[in-house]
Amino acid sequence: MADDPISSGEPGRRKKVYIETVGCQMNLLDSELVIARLRDEGYELTTDIDQADTILYNTCSVRQHAEDKTYSALGRIKHIKKRRPEVAVGVLGCMAQKDQGAILRRAPHVDVIIGPGQIGRVPELLEKAKAEGAPQLALSLARTAGSRETISASFEGYDPDREPAMRPSPFQAFVRVMMGCDKFCTYCIVPSVRGPEQSRPPAAIVAEARQLAAQGVKEITLLGQTVNSYKFREGDGRTTRLSDLLYALDEIPGVERIKFITSFPNDMTDDLLQAVRDLPTASRYIHVPAQSGCDEVLRRMKRMYSSSFYEEMLARMKETIPGVAVSSDFIVGFCGESEESFERTVGLVERSRFKNSFIFKYSRRQGTRADALFPDDVPEEVKKRRNNDLLAIQTAISLEDNRRLIGTTDVVLVEGPSRSTARREGWDGMSQWMGRTACDRIVVFEGSEGLAGRFVRVSIEDASAVTLFGRVSAEDRAGIPA
Ligand code: SAH
Ligand code: SF4
Ligand code: F3S
Repeated sequence: MADDPISSGEPGRRKKVYIETVGCQMNLLDSELVIARLRDEGYELTTDIDQADTILYNTCSVRQHAEDKTYSALGRIKHIKKRRPEVAVGVLGCMAQKDQGAILRRAPHVDVIIGPGQIGRVPELLEKAKAEGAPQLALSLARTAGSRETISASFEGYDPDREPAMRPSPFQAFVRVMMGCDKFCTYCIVPSVRGPEQSRPPAAIVAEARQLAAQGVKEITLLGQTVNSYKFREGDGRTTRLSDLLYALDEIPGVERIKFITSFPNDMTDDLLQAVRDLPTASRYIHVPAQSGCDEVLRRMKRMYSSSFYEEMLARMKETIPGVAVSSDFIVGFCGESEESFERTVGLVERSRFKNSFIFKYSRRQGTRADALFPDDVPEEVKKRRNNDLLAIQTAISLEDNRRLIGTTDVVLVEGPSRSTARREGWDGMSQWMGRTACDRIVVFEGSEGLAGRFVRVSIEDASAVTLFGRVSAEDRAGIPA
């Protein structure tokens, strides 16, 4: 049977799929699920694009840079398609949803275009494109295309049973708790490409976490664009909040650490902070983007809070959860951001002492409110300077706070060999391993395979702005083969 991937081509040869993923953790999770599904259909994963029968790009539209990456990748593979026209090319994810026809115009060699709300249909549409010899599109409805129910239904949840072999790490996993976003920050494309906010039923989340724990997962990261807005109303009117979910997940044997990203400042309720404080499994780490420290800019961004609200929230977090590590995102050079506005952001960063901040230059996104309402009036070189300046300030703070940890001991979940280029003097030639503390700090230490997936105590001996360097306690090293 020609369509059988296992028997097509050379006898016994399985079809090979290659995938590149850009964007956020939600996309990493989607890619894991798509590949797992294709494996069930007889494909195997390859990291060599020249060996692939199917080439997939799971894309991001959050900034122009992310889209450019995908377009240049699609340009680079034109020659592959010319030489081997039977190779199937797919564009999945947020850019597929946003650009639809434009992708086909710019890259006519694409066979399937599948939005994030239709990701479960990848195998079916690859087959169909091949059978019909025509590109296949599967997209969800635009946010203005009908009632909330119809639009929500067009963004289908895809959270099948998890396969251990497909996870980037055997003991860590992402679990989706929410899809979409309803905040509509004026600069942001996410609500259009990921659809309406929808919380998954708690029973489904708990069942997935149980399955993961049975497969050896120790650390679970809950995903949602505004994860602390999670709210699920049962038929009988009972409501489950993120804090309730944390309590339920805490009870699962084997689950030792739980993180959740990304939080929205206005939804940082006390029940959640108390759950993080009280639950031994809850990671004392919260990513809660401020975006700007200037009220005027925040208003134009439609973030729905002021900088003083944000700072009060931070104070509440630090008071409730001793030792909490907080990280943030900032956009510099947003429409109308004056030097004074920027200075207010600098002030916020200086006062807040975030563990780290992700800083982005504003990138106009077609279809957003900001793009329709405000001119993109901060010159590129000013955006660049503000980005560098803010990053330098944050880096100095991260370094200072990390150096204060020298001499302390913390528990680290060992993830694997360190890919970091940060090398400590005198360590050349040793096997560097890395892991994270409960506060999400990266720690590099001398280690070996036997430590992978274990919680070990590490004494911190040195620090850079992004990495702590330490030594695994003798007790935890004992009995582990080198
Ligand atoms: N849902 C998360 C993150 C969304 S996207 C949240 O609300 O915090 C991740 C980050 O990208 C955002 O926090 C923001 O800092 C940045 N971002 C989003 N749209 C952008 C744009 N048009 N230009 C530059 N950065 C942007
Ligand atoms: Fe975008 Fe704002 Fe939603 Fe985050 S909360 S995804 S920044 S619209
Ligand atoms: Fe990008 Fe989509 Fe995530 S636009 S940031 S991949 S939700």
